[in-house]
Amino acid sequence: MASFMNNMMSALHLGGNPQEDVPKPPSSEELKELREKYEKAGQGQVFNYYDDLKPEEKGALYQQLLPIDPEHINTITDRALHPPNPESEDQDPKLEQLPETATTSTIDSKQGDLDNWYKSGLQLIAENQVSVVLMAGGQGTRLGSSAPKGCYDIGLPSKKSLFQLQAERILRLQHLASKNHEKEGVVVLWYIMTSGPTRKPTHEFFEEHKYFGLDRNNVIIFEQGVLPCISMEGKILLETKSRVAVAPDGNGGLYQALINSGVVQDMEKRGIKHIHMFGVDNCLVRVADPTFIGFSAEKDVDIATKVVRKRNAKESVGLIVQKNGKPDVVEYSEIDTATAEAKDPKDSGLLKFRAANIVNHYYSFRFLQSIPEWAHKLPHHVAKKKIPAIPLDSKTGEQVKPDKPNGIKLEQFVFDCFPFLSMDKFACMEVKREDEFSALKNAPGTGEDDPGTSRTDIMQLGKRFLEGAGAMVVSEGEDSGVEVSPLISYAGEGLEFLRGREIKAPAVIEKEE
Ligand code: UD1
Repeated sequence: MASFMNNMMSALHLGGNPQEDVPKPPSSEELKELREKYEKAGQGQVFNYYDDLKPEEKGALYQQLLPIDPEHINTITDRALHPPNPESEDQDPKLEQLPETATTSTIDSKQGDLDNWYKSGLQLIAENQVSVVLMAGGQGTRLGSSAPKGCYDIGLPSKKSLFQLQAERILRLQHLASKNHEKEGVVVLWYIMTSGPTRKPTHEFFEEHKYFGLDRNNVIIFEQGVLPCISMEGKILLETKSRVAVAPDGNGGLYQALINSGVVQDMEKRGIKHIHMFGVDNCLVRVADPTFIGFSAEKDVDIATKVVRKRNAKESVGLIVQKNGKPDVVEYSEIDTATAEAKDPKDSGLLKFRAANIVNHYYSFRFLQSIPEWAHKLPHHVAKKKIPAIPLDSKTGEQVKPDKPNGIKLEQFVFDCFPFLSMDKFACMEVKREDEFSALKNAPGTGEDDPGTSRTDIMQLGKRFLEGAGAMVVSEGEDSGVEVSPLISYAGEGLEFLRGREIKAPAVIEKEE
């Protein structure tokens, strides 16, 4: 295991931390070869300041440039900047709801079906066939914090971070599966994808908190790749004279990272068959949800996705749809008003396209194994950004921090592989938003998807858990919620000891009393 962890921690990434070792400058032969490659691709500007550099800086720049294929960067930049014209190439993409055979909803499913999925999912967990992949590579820039989002304290009475809430749900599930199946040693492996900026602080946070009680060998932190930042003219930008400006390759970088850092091989070795993947910013996420795992496994699909009902036609969320007969996601920016507002022909009280993407997906292991066959087909999207960089026409090589976008970052999206599947290998489960989705996106005080709404949503869920168990929750002030520790209840179970009791909110229920 130790060597595997080392492998994970040192997996090759463009722009790896140059402070970790002191790189030797290349020989003149090596330099000539690399320089010619970049010049041939029209990207020779990355050597503009090479002659001014100290030997170790020359070595660092060389090491950073070596694994980048500048021709490939040109190709993906060109494709991202000039995507196929939907008018001419994809005339009138046909958008439909997903077929009923591919969907279910926990809002109106039969209780018997839900129970069966839960039981079979818990059995798969007990058989150690289930693992979790967390995407935690994004930086909380909109949140106004430079720490990884998972470390964020959303203001719960317990002060638990998002990482701790997720860890405790895993601990509870391991316990439930172990108890129900009378089996020792149940493990839900947790693979955590970080990025250049989030890897080290994430690792340190887990160390500091002793992996929140999980076995550290079952928490595997790996790193997604980065791509060079590009000027509006398509040129690779330098952040300093000796360093290319780079940025994480988007959440779709997950797939390449799963292969490059050995995660898929590790899953194979450990007999994993079912994978639950989700984004770090959802405080309500039901990690490795047995019901979702059981549903997806029974349908024998390669990808399943959880969705919530879109709040209204204007909400800025991606929608899971069927596009030209294939599963797909339409981002809100791509949808016209008439389509966004269309009513469901079967129920005019509902939007026709209401399946909001919450970045909460199931993968079969066989699908992850097939990544090398299709990863090259994932498109790149363009995000115009303010990138601290040396202007292309600079004489001095001074970095400028721009006040308006000066370049682009290239990003892949995790859902862009959905259309590679046929409809019968895809399924969708609608869940209650108030039970399973509350995103942390914005700075405190925004009033929407901010730390305050995350806190309230957890506390209100706890209150419903207690009421469901037959307790009475009373409150005098506005704070009417209860924080229920995931260590004693994953989804409302295990609270029978509170039946008939009166609980004064706000309260914290941490253990059976
Ligand atoms: C995402 C979805 C959108 C959905 C919305 C719901 C994508 C591309 N879009 O949008 O359809 O309706 O969530 O909240 O998935 N991440 C990385 N590495 C990166 C970039 C992001 O790990 O390079 C992770 C983030 O840490 C986060 C997740 O991916 O956990 C979602 O990314 P984010 O950029 O927050 O997506 P949204 O724009 O919110």
